[in-house]
Amino acid sequence: MPMYSDKVMDHFMNPRNVGEIKDADGVGEEGNPVCGDMMTFYIKVKDNRLEDVKFQTFGCGAAIAVSSMVSEMAKGKTLEEALKITPSVVAEELGGLPKNKYHCSNLGAQALRRAIKDYATKKGLKLEGLEGEEHEEAEEN
Ligand code: FES
Repeated sequence: MPMYSDKVMDHFMNPRNVGEIKDADGVGEEGNPVCGDMMTFYIKVKDNRLEDVKFQTFGCGAAIAVSSMVSEMAKGKTLEEALKITPSVVAEELGGLPKNKYHCSNLGAQALRRAIKDYATKKGLKLEGLEGEEHEEAEEN
């Protein structure tokens, strides 16, 4: 049994912002072919800020906790700020994740990023921090 922090357990048992935004401004999907887990993030943007963030996650407990945490961290942030939510930042905010669960935090950060990218592409926006570093991974120590 991997050890989970209280925060992970809390977000797993009571995930925040679960659901779909029907008229979302951006949608991002990410999955991991190895474990088969998948998540989708929906965003509403107003005045360059994430007015609302929701997600649907079909995945392990850590993936659910990660999505919940990412959604909370992202809400109210500007797009540029939200792009700074990396897998390692999420894992840290959750009080750490077991090593074999790092990839779960990658999914969450990446799905949010995709949703922002979707929005930016539709609007023809160039956002700082959106280029490159597509595959940053949580640190292994
Ligand atoms: Fe794959 Fe958690 S085991 S996302």
